[in-house]
Amino acid sequence: MANRTLTLSTFRYNPYDPDLGPRMQEYILEETPRMTLFTALTRIREDMDPSLQFDFVCRSAVCGSCAMLVNGHPRLACRTRTDQLPTKINLHPLPFFRLIGDLSVDTGSWFAEMAHRVESWVHTSKAFNPDGEEERMSNDQALSVYELERCIECGCCVAACVTAQMRDDFLGAAGLLRVARFWIDPRDQRTDADFYDVVGTDAGVFGCVGLLACHDYCPKNLPLMEQLAYLRRRIMLASLRSAVGKKERQPKEPEAVP
Ligand code: SF4
Ligand code: F3S
Ligand code: FES
Repeated sequence: MANRTLTLSTFRYNPYDPDLGPRMQEYILEETPRMTLFTALTRIREDMDPSLQFDFVCRSAVCGSCAMLVNGHPRLACRTRTDQLPTKINLHPLPFFRLIGDLSVDTGSWFAEMAHRVESWVHTSKAFNPDGEEERMSNDQALSVYELERCIECGCCVAACVTAQMRDDFLGAAGLLRVARFWIDPRDQRTDADFYDVVGTDAGVFGCVGLLACHDYCPKNLPLMEQLAYLRRRIMLASLRSAVGKKERQPKEPEAVP
């Protein structure tokens, strides 16, 4: 069967050269077997247009840097095969994040700020002993934490979320997932009330209206739907406890992720 001819209609804009406004530019190239969008873009940059900006590091769905809108949907360029797409492919940068140029956006600054806001580290009063043994936890707990550690910070979940498009302080599914990751960690000594302070706002759990596009577009198939439901339950419990005047610090339940 003859190879298909692909037309990649690509968003172009360099904020450092504002005289040339935002525009779409078409590149035509022949599809090769098992071609990914990353391969196609690399060929364009090497053979046709070295000025085209897009990001990649790992080429294997690990670094999260190649996310972009492919025909309107957030996807990783390195794991998107062109033979699963029509011959006309529209590429845009992820919305929500600061545009660096063309298809390249700055997800790193957003994720660093989010990590700071949700205090993305184990809070413990135990002094660190470099010669001591690792703290033990059950296999189930370790697996639950590991599962939530799989996020590659690609930004697809945030780009897919309408709430994030409406309020730029929204923590997004990635931020809420990060909170869930520490809430289930038995080493983290923060109480339910402490976590409520972090995510019990419209920029946190209450801003999520359950659209679940985040769940649909996460390229790592993280259990975002389950985690958002889990957080909502924990937050409601924390709020009920507070409402009935039980203000004493509740011990954290070492609960496995459903
Ligand atoms: Fe990407 Fe999924 Fe992490 Fe969101 S939760 S940043 S979609 S890997
Ligand atoms: Fe957005 Fe996902 Fe909630 S798409 S509204 S974070 S369920
Ligand atoms: Fe690393 Fe695509 S290049 S995820």
